[in-house]
Amino acid sequence: KIYPVILSGGAGTRLWPLSRAALPKQLLPVVSDQTMLQETAQRLNGRADIMAPLIVCGNEHRFLVAEQLREIKVKPLGILLEPEGRNTAPAVAAAAEFLKGLDADAVMLVLPADHVISDVDAFYQAILRASTLVEHGSLATFGIVPTAPETGYGYIRSGEPLPVGENCFKVDRFVEKPDRATAEGFVAAGNYYWNSGMFLFRADAYLKELAEFQPAIASASAAAVAKGYRDLDFLRLEEAAFGASPSDSIDYAVMEHTRHAVVVPASIGWNDVGSWSALWEVQEQNENGNVCRGDVYLDGVKNSLVRAESRCVAVVGVENVVVVETNDAVLVVHKDQVQRVKQVVEHLKLQD
Ligand code: GDD
Ligand code: MG
Repeated sequence: KIYPVILSGGAGTRLWPLSRAALPKQLLPVVSDQTMLQETAQRLNGRADIMAPLIVCGNEHRFLVAEQLREIKVKPLGILLEPEGRNTAPAVAAAAEFLKGLDADAVMLVLPADHVISDVDAFYQAILRASTLVEHGSLATFGIVPTAPETGYGYIRSGEPLPVGENCFKVDRFVEKPDRATAEGFVAAGNYYWNSGMFLFRADAYLKELAEFQPAIASASAAAVAKGYRDLDFLRLEEAAFGASPSDSIDYAVMEHTRHAVVVPASIGWNDVGSWSALWEVQEQNENGNVCRGDVYLDGVKNSLVRAESRCVAVVGVENVVVVETNDAVLVVHKDQVQRVKQVVEHLKLQD
């Protein structure tokens, strides 16, 4: 049995002004008419051996998350609430502790709530391939062939092929978020994959590795689950225990150090929609290469993304721009400069 664990705790500042702390991108209809959380929760619904999902999210988003699942008629295994975000290593640990209590042999599929996967059949096949590898304690990652020296991803150097599972490898080296020059070297080398941020492992195998490399996170998460309690449909992690956990990502805390990592290359139309240009790329473009949403008027515009949430937006005679209108902010940025949106958000935060 495979238990999907959906991580829905990020802030998603790179899609400002659409995504906000109160309404991050996974809770918004970014790519389709469904929110990214809804797409994630539904993606593997009904496939053999895939159980109902466990959601891990911040306390402040609990009603939105519950409502969005109700809308698509997905009944979650539970909604685990973090009193405060401590990044992904503790979130996954809490989920692992919870699942271990339900099923001593639980295998968990860690899924970020905000990724696009266009080939779901291929994704499911990759999960099945990975599931044969993790029975004895391996931690599987899904590797994506890199197309650019992105510095926001983890990089995996594949090692020797594994005897079981076709086209699966030991992980030789895992490097989270390298600098630009290092990333360029990895892409040129050819035997590196991007870490997709999705993982498959036995709950107890993850907890064992975490206890070795980050014991403070392991013990805090265990205590937070043990002292936690059910409140309606929600499972509340105990505040003081969880708050005592160091904040770290699963990549830095475990994946960079473990000797039991394996990689399953996955060609699944994956995109983490980390920027406005990524969003332009994954959506269907019209004959001029434009992606439009809402009440927009375009004339002589090419290869652009124009999104109107609450007013009419007219754009004339420009190429490669991103224009995003919401009821309290407007963004206009060159499509090649979208990484700088992050600084906009930082600047606005300072002004608060
Ligand atoms: N519940 C919960 N609590 N979820 C969280 C928290 C938290 O404290 N922090 C982050 N998340 C969720 C995010 O919403 C997202 O869905 C996922 O966990 C991953 O977190 P990100 O913050 O988006 O990580 P990243 O993009 O910097 O890096 C990760 O993903 C890359 C691929 O997109 C790493 O795994 C990289 O190695 C990987 O390449
Ligand atoms: Mg991300």
